[in-house]
Amino acid sequence: MLARVIQVTAPAIPHELVEEIRTSVDIVDFIGEYVVLQKRGRNYLGLCPFHSEKTPSFNVNPEKQFFYCFGCGAGGDVYNFLMKIKNLSFPEALAAMAERAGIALPAHEERDEDKARQREQQRLLEIHRLAAQFYHSLLTRHPAAQPAREYLEKRRVTSEAVQEFQLGFAPDSWDALLSTLVSRGYRPRELALAGLALPREKRDGFYDRFRNRIMFPIVDQRQRVVGFGGRVLNTGQPKYLNSPDTPLFHKGRVLYGLNRAIEAMRQEGYGIIVEGYMDAIAAHQAGLRHTVASLGTAFTREQAQLLLRYTREVVIAYDADTAGQTATLRGMDILYQAGCRVRVAVLPPGLDPDDFLRREGPQAFREMAEQQALSLIAYKLERAVATRNLSTIEGKVDALNDLMPDLQRVKNAVERDEYVRLISARMNMAEGAIYAELRRQSGQLQKSGTWRDKTENYRHNKDRISLGHQPGHNGPEKQLLRYMLEDPGILPRLKQDLGSEVFSDAAAREIAAALEWRMSTPGLPPLTAIMDHLSSEPARQMFAQLMVGEHPLPGGKGLEDLINKIKINRMQAQIQQKIKEMDRAEAARDLDYSRQLQEEIHALQKEISVLKATRH
Ligand code: CTP
Ligand code: MN
Repeated sequence: MLARVIQVTAPAIPHELVEEIRTSVDIVDFIGEYVVLQKRGRNYLGLCPFHSEKTPSFNVNPEKQFFYCFGCGAGGDVYNFLMKIKNLSFPEALAAMAERAGIALPAHEERDEDKARQREQQRLLEIHRLAAQFYHSLLTRHPAAQPAREYLEKRRVTSEAVQEFQLGFAPDSWDALLSTLVSRGYRPRELALAGLALPREKRDGFYDRFRNRIMFPIVDQRQRVVGFGGRVLNTGQPKYLNSPDTPLFHKGRVLYGLNRAIEAMRQEGYGIIVEGYMDAIAAHQAGLRHTVASLGTAFTREQAQLLLRYTREVVIAYDADTAGQTATLRGMDILYQAGCRVRVAVLPPGLDPDDFLRREGPQAFREMAEQQALSLIAYKLERAVATRNLSTIEGKVDALNDLMPDLQRVKNAVERDEYVRLISARMNMAEGAIYAELRRQSGQLQKSGTWRDKTENYRHNKDRISLGHQPGHNGPEKQLLRYMLEDPGILPRLKQDLGSEVFSDAAAREIAAALEWRMSTPGLPPLTAIMDHLSSEPARQMFAQLMVGEHPLPGGKGLEDLINKIKINRMQAQIQQKIKEMDRAEAARDLDYSRQLQEEIHALQKEISVLKATRH
């Protein structure tokens, strides 16, 4: 997606042309070729093609020529739709739309270094494709690969899986791959750049990196071989050797099997993450095609972002050993922060998914992933119970503290009650004590009832502010952005009323900046062009959602009311801060400071009531 920003702002393709191509087709017609749409109000509604759902939440707005799914947050213009549904880059989507419209794209003049880099990239891709073919044909045909074939057979890898995953064999030779590719016109230096050859130490020349190994080509979501993993037959060291970082390959940015899992993740409505190559292959063989492997234990933010393009619902199925458990905790947090719903399938000790599938079969695995998988808190609870000594008070305190940050984040009261009940039962602790601890840790005063009610309210408001960027949430900042969409000219006035930092939400700030860019660009680019100037996913999602907005904006004094509301929210956040501070001051017996804070709070409250009184 970032590529789109760079490509469009590059001088090569003028935005007028991007615009002309965009408007050559009506978004309702275009998406209608993929999704059954029905008119509802101002929008067209259908079942989202990007996640699995039973009631439609996928909206297409014909006026703004935008789509947005309230279920999964996917949104954008025709280009975004095409990119997402066909896994295309922006230039590819642009080329496809141009062809459809019969519009010729200029043969773009590139800088020499760009050309050289593209050429290098192209050759690296060819080298990878040819190497995969070479290894694969050896595995399937060559007598020297007999032990490799026997090994795979022993591990119950079927010949269909060998085909599907293009598994291969690197022979026990110093230059089998090198000499083959050199004879086809590639230089040893290029093979080294591709991570497939290494320079010799004592003399000139290079040698093959992968020798006597079963080869697993790593294919990206665009079906390109970008790297390899190689496994020893039996017991040598290291067990797996992977491509080093190259211009094409970064271990933390790929997911093994993703190219074959995308469709299945959409159909199943979730994805499964395992650790290893063999686990992923075994899962696919067993019909669980919505499985990807993170290639070892360190799940990264980039991998989470990649996965998030295809599903928001993820089940982690790592090995039950200590390394696997630590990796599970880390992976859960990363996925949660990226916006996924995460659960954990807990494997019996000593078994990895590959073993489990062989012993228990696909149905048992599916049940483990779908019915028995634990939520983030339930999993952490089990971990706390296993690692803390609950027969001591200290142990219980520690165990509860392990869970507190996650528990604090659960905003839904029903859900929170459910967890508190679970924790109380599992750790033999009074529910009241857990609630008291929750309150204490969120820094509230527990004095009189009235104070408490007030602080509850402030807490609520604070949440609303910080959640302003969540899809589906209709915070005042978002509302303000809608006014700006209608009339970007109001920005100076907003700055005057609210200070230069009009928006506290990062996504909202990004959109406001893009709207400013639009205002200052000669010829006033259309609103749709804003999408090309948003580089973060939350900003793009928020913008798409704003563009399909159903409810008309209140006229008259609506804007003024909104500004007041934001001012009030800010003051309430300040009050919240001060309450926390007062709590600390009282704990430290600094009564003067506490009284001063109380006065400041009262002053803010008065200001709030004045503002509220002027509301229309
Ligand atoms: N891994 C690696 N380098 C190693 C060991 C492991 O890159 N030296 C990565 C591989 O992607 C491997 C994954 O970590 O697939 C999980 O490791 P492990 O559980 O040891 O591998 P399995 O896939 O279970 O391997 P096998 O069943 O073939 O022993
Ligand atoms: Mn294994």
